[in-house]
Amino acid sequence: MHSNQHVTIVHDGNKHNKSFIELVKRYHDIKLVEIKSLSAEDIKRSLLIIVQVDLKDPENLRPLKEKMSMPERENIPVLFLLDEFNRRQIVQSNILGATDYISYPCPDSNFIEIMGDLINRVVEQAWSKLSPIQENALKVSMKVVENTFSNAAEGMDVAQEDVKDSCDMIIEATSKDGLTDWMNAIRQHHNYTYRHSMMVCGYLTSFGMLLGVKKADLQMLALGGMVHDIGKSKISLNILDKPSKLDPHEWKIMMGHAEHSRIILETNNWHEDIIDIATHHHERLDGEGYPHRQKGRDVSDLARMTAIADVFSGLVDKRSYKPSMSAEKAISIMMEAEGHLDIPLVKAFQAVVLSDEEKTFAYQQ
Ligand SMILES: [Fe+2]
Ligand SMILES: [Fe+2]
Repeated sequence: MHSNQHVTIVHDGNKHNKSFIELVKRYHDIKLVEIKSLSAEDIKRSLLIIVQVDLKDPENLRPLKEKMSMPERENIPVLFLLDEFNRRQIVQSNILGATDYISYPCPDSNFIEIMGDLINRVVEQAWSKLSPIQENALKVSMKVVENTFSNAAEGMDVAQEDVKDSCDMIIEATSKDGLTDWMNAIRQHHNYTYRHSMMVCGYLTSFGMLLGVKKADLQMLALGGMVHDIGKSKISLNILDKPSKLDPHEWKIMMGHAEHSRIILETNNWHEDIIDIATHHHERLDGEGYPHRQKGRDVSDLARMTAIADVFSGLVDKRSYKPSMSAEKAISIMMEAEGHLDIPLVKAFQAVVLSDEEKTFAYQQ
């Protein structure tokens, strides 16, 4: 998969309701292009192509048909926005190569769902290029994360055993084939919280391996990474996916996720180390963190390591209100975060995420 991919929005220059564009931007980079100017390169870089053109206008149909049958288009999903949901438009969009279609305007939640499903399908297709161990570990654990979060959201049981097996697979995959390909493979996954949970799990697993921790501790780190934000299952999507900075009230609700995590994991009898990771990964060494304002040595090594993996994952990942950041830039910022992070541990963590040249670069920043 290309690293700088976008959702391509194909239009015909006519007046349509375009409010969906802001929704797409919340989650992905976009490229807006008129039908006649759509290039093979645009198509190749697409995570998803959204087509919003007047299908009654014959002028649109020929170029659209031509572009949609380009070989570059083959594994890329195309979503047609139909202004009239009738048989004729459905047939026409199918002939033109629609993977799916939706009558538009429609409720935001429907739009986000269909877009997310189509994008995740592509992301998951690309997993077949990974080693079989990595592919399997990803497939299984992504499902486990989804189920675990949705069970937690509904107040159902969340058993440590269910998550443990997939973490063992991640540990095996990371020890055999490293982390890079695996991380790249989740980068574009549509759901931020799932993607973030997997990333933190991967970073912590590699970090633990680098520090030479024993197998039982490695399992705690992998499991802790996977569920460190399980409490976010109790926070509304309006806050989790808000396209701009949170206001003080929303921020207070967001910070509550640490306590929600503790309660969910304690209720389900998870191991105390995992509860510690989930509850305390937002504590700061200077005592200014949350939820318990732990200070200095009160913050455990596991919580310190998780804070590092968590902050790093947040910095390098793209959100609607900020672009993604290079690993070296993220590390150089974290090196300055004295009082918040454990700096000697950040130095050690570099080896997990930077190549040798990048390490020199980060030091020089
Ligand atoms: Fe968190
Ligand atoms: Fe997190």
